[in-house]
Amino acid sequence: MKLKSCLTTVLLAFISLQCATPEPDFTREVITLKKGWKFNKGQHPNATKIAFDDSKWEDVTVPHDWAIYGPFDKEIDKQIVAITQNGENIATEKTGRTGALPYIGEGWYRNEFTIENFDDNKKVLLLFEGAMSEPEVFLNGEKVGEWKYGYSYFYFDVSAYINGKAKNTLAVKLTNVGKSSRWYPGAGLYRNVSVIVKNKESFEQWSTFITTPSITLDKAEVNIKTKASEKNLKLVTEIYDVDGNKVTSNETKAHTNNAFEQHIEVSKPQLWSPESPYLYTAILKLYHGNVLKDEITQRFGIRSIDYSPDTGFSLNGKTRKFKGVCLHHDLGPIGTAVNTSALRRQLKILKDMGCDAIRSAHNMPSLEQLELCDEMGFMFLAESFDEWKKPKVENGYNRFFDAYAEKDIVNLVRATRNHPSIVMWSSGNEVPDQWGSEGVKRAKWLQDIFHREDPTRPVTVGMDQVKAVMESGFGAVMDVPGLNYRVHLYEEAYQHFPQGFLLGSETASTVSSRGIYKFPVEIASMKTYPDFQSSSYDLEYCSWSNLPDDDFVLQDDKPWVIGEFVWTGFDYLGEPTPYDEAWPSRSSYFGINDLAGLPKDRYYLYRSRWNTEDETLHILPHWNWEGREGETTPVFVYTSYNSAELFLNGKSLGIQKKSKKTKQNRYRLMWMDVEYEPGTLKVVALDEKGNPVAEKEVKTAGKPYKLVLESDVKTIKANGEDLAFVTVSVVDKNGIPCPTATNQLNFKVEGNGTFRAACNGDATSLEPFHLPTMQLFSGKLVVLVQSTEEAGDITLIVTGDHLEKGEVLIKSIL
Ligand code: GAL
Repeated sequence: MKLKSCLTTVLLAFISLQCATPEPDFTREVITLKKGWKFNKGQHPNATKIAFDDSKWEDVTVPHDWAIYGPFDKEIDKQIVAITQNGENIATEKTGRTGALPYIGEGWYRNEFTIENFDDNKKVLLLFEGAMSEPEVFLNGEKVGEWKYGYSYFYFDVSAYINGKAKNTLAVKLTNVGKSSRWYPGAGLYRNVSVIVKNKESFEQWSTFITTPSITLDKAEVNIKTKASEKNLKLVTEIYDVDGNKVTSNETKAHTNNAFEQHIEVSKPQLWSPESPYLYTAILKLYHGNVLKDEITQRFGIRSIDYSPDTGFSLNGKTRKFKGVCLHHDLGPIGTAVNTSALRRQLKILKDMGCDAIRSAHNMPSLEQLELCDEMGFMFLAESFDEWKKPKVENGYNRFFDAYAEKDIVNLVRATRNHPSIVMWSSGNEVPDQWGSEGVKRAKWLQDIFHREDPTRPVTVGMDQVKAVMESGFGAVMDVPGLNYRVHLYEEAYQHFPQGFLLGSETASTVSSRGIYKFPVEIASMKTYPDFQSSSYDLEYCSWSNLPDDDFVLQDDKPWVIGEFVWTGFDYLGEPTPYDEAWPSRSSYFGINDLAGLPKDRYYLYRSRWNTEDETLHILPHWNWEGREGETTPVFVYTSYNSAELFLNGKSLGIQKKSKKTKQNRYRLMWMDVEYEPGTLKVVALDEKGNPVAEKEVKTAGKPYKLVLESDVKTIKANGEDLAFVTVSVVDKNGIPCPTATNQLNFKVEGNGTFRAACNGDATSLEPFHLPTMQLFSGKLVVLVQSTEEAGDITLIVTGDHLEKGEVLIKSIL
């Protein structure tokens, strides 16, 4: 039933007369402070003062990452350490561990805002969705609060500091110390900052909790809890479907200890799932007497989750296994500054791969990412910490654990628990507290906090010390025992733990560089090469980890394994294993996709089993091996088909069938004895009867001739934030991609857009992301074009010496 005007003409005339004058009730105003920021690195004790002169400081917009502009420098955060969780005993020099980018030091941000309708009956909150790190917040010259963990969401009630209707001056000090991270943490106000203005009679921040305790085909019970202080309040909740139709509403005056609770029935509920991410909207209205005092809009999903020894993990009553990836929070070339279009692009790429779940390794996800996962259909494992009380890095979270762990979890859960995508919490990753009885108590304490704040979802920890947690009882405490790697211990852990199921909370850690292949082709651990790249035959892993196929076997053969989260969906800044000690490696090799978001071969291996809707037929390596003529150059095919025939220059190299001979034979088609000769490599997929059903070719390319551009989107929003990701490739005279090209390219953006960054996915590149020039890596790179606030055409022009230029048009719309 939509809102209707159903009054008689007389009544209407009367009402319009009455309504013409009074102001609508003020409910709340959220001012997101994106523009007008001044930023400076360094120590500025006087910057807290209202009168401080910041005119010479840099103008920035927030979200902002001060360190991503580089330059990369080997000396930054050089750590002489033994990484014990990687099995090391001797300290060695680790360069690039945190990305070799200048994140260390103090940084200051200042901004001004006014609250035009401020009066004594208003409450003002200052909300930070993440500030890296150790934020200290000053308003109008006074300190209003501080936090420690750079990944937490937090807010302060600043009503007492507001300067009436006049200008308010906000100053934020951030401090990053060295040896505080195992990866690139970013630096600065990298997530949104907002001012929330509301009435005294209003909903308490993050107090609303919507759950769906019982669901049948006919109806779902929606339970709504929320809190508001003051007396004589009434809560009216309206629930809308995805088309904006009101499906039901409820009114309650029962208000005890500031709490409201409603049970609302939704008939014939549409359930939320990755395949059908249906979202309802609840509008909660708070009345004082008959005056509307506050209103919040909260999306939610109707879905049930269950974890049991009999059926493993089930969503809406159907058992399924997580086809998940772990993601770090950085977004490659734009660093950690959160950006919705960059997150959406990642999810689109993962969706096409058939991935249905994300783990936020190893900290709180951005709210933008959760919104997108709700909308696009991804289940979410929301993690909190990489360290508890025992350090992994000298200046890590261990410094704050005692004082902040509970507060950080409370904020994580309260801020995000209405997201249907979240199906599990994680209280930690490979914490050294896995050793010893204190750790068992800590695990229980943290899990109990999660349960207190959200009784509907289980808690896991990514455990790597499997023997220790079996002995100590640590593993038995967890709702969901999660194993990081250690495939050889799955069976034993399953037998030992009481839960009756096991999660691959972190799997694979296979390493590869996009488009780089090494010979001979062999399975190897911690393999290194003089060019600091890893082979894209996907047979190289870390001493503590394994190959994708090892996980596939467990996922396929053990009903009690409830899924996996691959390390990682995308490459990230820092942790350049197996080149932690090799400069200039400065970003990871673990990604299924590279740092630019371009798929590596492994993408197709996962796609061939995870994407059950579309066919996958992918050949590797590329076929440009000048100098390898006559040498053995194995060919792999990652495919959803069971068998295929390979042809080189028209000559059959035989049929391969997936078999259980080895783990690799089970999931990959491999022709190990192919002798290289230039030309055309063609694979023909066969159905069960041996009939050809699909084919793919790879051809030897000639010299780079022309640049080809392809944007991930045709239109972007003219909001000054939206991004288009343009993949630039070089092709020869016949349009064949040149897979080894390394040309230096230049970028120019014309019209209503700007050049934001570029990235080629090479983990050893020291070219800054934000300058409009970069070398191709394995024939490709990606350019990020950003909208301005004016709608219109944007043209990206890419040039390179002796190459035909490439152009692409993107429309920016309001
Ligand atoms: C795991 C750890 C991850 C990452 C990964 C690399 O042990 O949880 O954060 O370091 O190893 O393989």
